[in-house]
Amino acid sequence: MPIDDSIFSQQLSSKDFKVLKDFIEDSCGIKLSETKKNMVEGRLRKRIKVLGMNNYADYLDYVFNEDHDDVEKVHLIDVITTNKTDFFREPNHFTLLENNILPQLAQVHGIGVTSPLNVWSSASSTGEEPYTIAMVLSEFYGTAGKFTVYATDINTSVLATGQKAIYTEDKAKDIPFEYKKKYMMRSKDRTQKLVRFRPEIRQKVKFGRNNLKEDKYILPGKMDIVFCRNVIIYFDPQTQESMLQKICSYLKPGGFLFMGHSESVHGMSLPIKNYAPTVYIRV
Ligand SMILES: C[S@@+](CC[C@H](N)C(=O)[O-])C[C@H]1O[C@@H](n2cnc3c(N)ncnc32)[C@H](O)[C@@H]1O
Repeated sequence: MPIDDSIFSQQLSSKDFKVLKDFIEDSCGIKLSETKKNMVEGRLRKRIKVLGMNNYADYLDYVFNEDHDDVEKVHLIDVITTNKTDFFREPNHFTLLENNILPQLAQVHGIGVTSPLNVWSSASSTGEEPYTIAMVLSEFYGTAGKFTVYATDINTSVLATGQKAIYTEDKAKDIPFEYKKKYMMRSKDRTQKLVRFRPEIRQKVKFGRNNLKEDKYILPGKMDIVFCRNVIIYFDPQTQESMLQKICSYLKPGGFLFMGHSESVHGMSLPIKNYAPTVYIRV
């Protein structure tokens, strides 16, 4: 049956918006204010089209039908999350990592030299952040170095992109030329303008789904460095604090926490002290 596109000029009722908003906040912490209603409608329309449905109410019945498994809930979370990211985003973090933090960890504790270094990119999106970290670590230790970058996110579709490790040349424009030459390869079909990370880098980055709102995280142990950048801005202050407390419990004493430049831990009770702007050390 052809889909009647006119239904897409419909609006999500306030009652349905509240149902969605409560579900998203409960399940992943993301706060959706009334000003986000248009954005939510736009993103849901695409998903509703894919399913061949033609109104929001039917979609909500489908998502929250108790007889169904949680597969559609995962898709719903995938369409609601905002995944903007870049290679070498907030570049001074990577300069600090390379020039100060890695030498300090290596000298003082032998981390990355005699014992392995574990880094967690806790909201990895499509992989630009964890691969940037992996390139910086490879410059420092060599690709045979003892390090692993754990890349987690709640969104299954961004994780699949990260795992493929294929990006457009335009997306890769922020990667220094020398790094591109060393760590990436170009697609054989030059009309496609795609690049992919070499296997040596890909095997250093382990992707997995993890929800920062849940009580337990999928990590194999405590981390030496955690990147938690540009994700807590989506949560309310109480959720931000309890999430950061949990994140700190996965960070070794003396380990480092990187936050986004527009994020603040001001007034929160956390076992960290300031090391550099938006970078903290676990006490
Ligand atoms: C704006 S991106 C930031 C990506 C990267 N950290 C950066 O700074 O470029 C935010 C990411 O947080 C993820 N996210 C949102 N809520 C989450 C949650 N509860 N648990 C884990 N990841 C979440 C989103 O799926 C999205 O990929």
